[in-house]
Amino acid sequence: MRVDKLLAHVGYGSRKDVKQLLKKGLFTVNGEVVKSAKAHVDPETDDLAFGGEPILYREHLYVMMHKPAGVLSATEDVSERTVVDLLEEEDRLFQPFPVGRLDKDTTGLLLLTNDGKWAHGITSPARKIPKTYEVLTAEPVTDEMADQLQQGVTLDDGYETRPAGVAFPDESRSRLYLTIDEGKYHQVKRMLAAVGNHVDGLKRIRIGGLPLDESLEAGTYRELTEKEIEAFQNGQ
Ligand code: URA
Repeated sequence: MRVDKLLAHVGYGSRKDVKQLLKKGLFTVNGEVVKSAKAHVDPETDDLAFGGEPILYREHLYVMMHKPAGVLSATEDVSERTVVDLLEEEDRLFQPFPVGRLDKDTTGLLLLTNDGKWAHGITSPARKIPKTYEVLTAEPVTDEMADQLQQGVTLDDGYETRPAGVAFPDESRSRLYLTIDEGKYHQVKRMLAAVGNHVDGLKRIRIGGLPLDESLEAGTYRELTEKEIEAFQNGQ
């Protein structure tokens, strides 16, 4: 990897800034001063330091966010706030993107990473990773509606959904946990519409074996643990 790219990535400024810094002779690779922005280093094996301080380089970032309502699942937008805008500057340097999408008004578990392969392993339809949503409905969900959702329903464009998991966390019948292993556009809202109901509130609470960390307030996030990252790599 080019030295200027690496230093910009770990937060030493733009590539132009980094070029100036390099000229000062503060950057060393395996103890040798390197002044050229074009020099190549291997961050895995080379010993990198700046001003005598070791540079801890890593390529990837993996975070779990409790997405709040009112922000877009996108990396940037001309007029609206995005989930990436909610990240600290030091995390934005990794250029993460959301793994799949939640609607602007949907809250809950959203993963962000800059590891495209890992993200694909989660969003790929072939992997059929289950996602669980807490759904607040306008009308109580009848047994008939629950049966239909469990068997699969026909969406407004004719698409037949795969069987879904349905559970009721309380007696109200206006709150259900719906688990689907596919991700069509507005799928949950359209599934509830297909059975004659309406979604008043939607929160994703689980992806595969990973539940939303309830200690995260809406709008906050944390890095995933090694174990959580690996669980998806191993085909959870
Ligand atoms: N289904 C929806 O309708 N919206 C979401 O944000 C996620 C799933």
